[in-house]
Amino acid sequence: MVNIINETPHYSSKDAFQMSKGILKVFSEVAHHYELVNHVLTFGLDIPWRKRAAQVAAVGNGTLWLEVCSGTGDMATNLMKHASPETKIVVSDFSFSMLSKAREKEELKDVTISLADSLQLPFPDDTFDLVIISFATRNITPTRDRLITFLGEFRRILKPGGRFINLETSQPSLTPLRIGFRFYTKQIIKLVGRLISGSKTGYAYLAHTVPRFFNAEELSNTLYDAGFSRVNYVTMTFGTVAIHRAVK
Ligand SMILES: C[S@@+](CC[C@H](N)C(=O)[O-])C[C@H]1O[C@@H](n2cnc3c(N)ncnc32)[C@H](O)[C@@H]1O
Repeated sequence: MVNIINETPHYSSKDAFQMSKGILKVFSEVAHHYELVNHVLTFGLDIPWRKRAAQVAAVGNGTLWLEVCSGTGDMATNLMKHASPETKIVVSDFSFSMLSKAREKEELKDVTISLADSLQLPFPDDTFDLVIISFATRNITPTRDRLITFLGEFRRILKPGGRFINLETSQPSLTPLRIGFRFYTKQIIKLVGRLISGSKTGYAYLAHTVPRFFNAEELSNTLYDAGFSRVNYVTMTFGTVAIHRAVK
């Protein structure tokens, strides 16, 4: 069995440290019921969303794939199904509680697990053919500038020509749908998340990040600003979720 490789994160400022500490606390609280809450809150739609993202991610193949902010490894189990026998998969997150759940999964026994902050990943430049993130970009994005810093780090460790895939909630373009989605997010996610997980602050925080996140076009522009090229995206389920693909 592969152990969790512990890379103690180094923070460039006190603010970055405090912010990361807050998010870390949230995910330590919700780790136990995290996947169940996802399935319930999305009416099971997170399953086909992840499948589709894994299909998109696999195009282009390559021998080294990294999932950042991987949490409990739900996305990684989908990636495994598309990986060729030569492909090595690494998953990384800064929450030991979330990674411990990934470690328990038989399907992920050959995956390397790294405990690290995505702001400073313990990998050399030009290493990976694929970097993927799912449902975590919102968590690393209090400001556009900070998101660009993270995206720069993901770009740094991609090989030239390597691809970055982002699966994330988005903003429906039709106003009534957007209003309905925001209502659902603010009222229902907080309540149901708290009832199942027992964490009051955890799902209040998650519900807070969804309506504030970029729409698909804004995220595309941000990817260009972070230095990526050939950005494209598909939206799913009335624009509530998007998969972006960008190339280094
Ligand atoms: C909403 S969960 C998503 C987990 C997983 N990607 C999925 O699709 O279910 C967000 C994850 O991002 C991780 N995370 C947030 N900020 C991070 C950071 N700065 N460095 C590493 N992991 C981070 C959290 O620990 C958590 O596991």
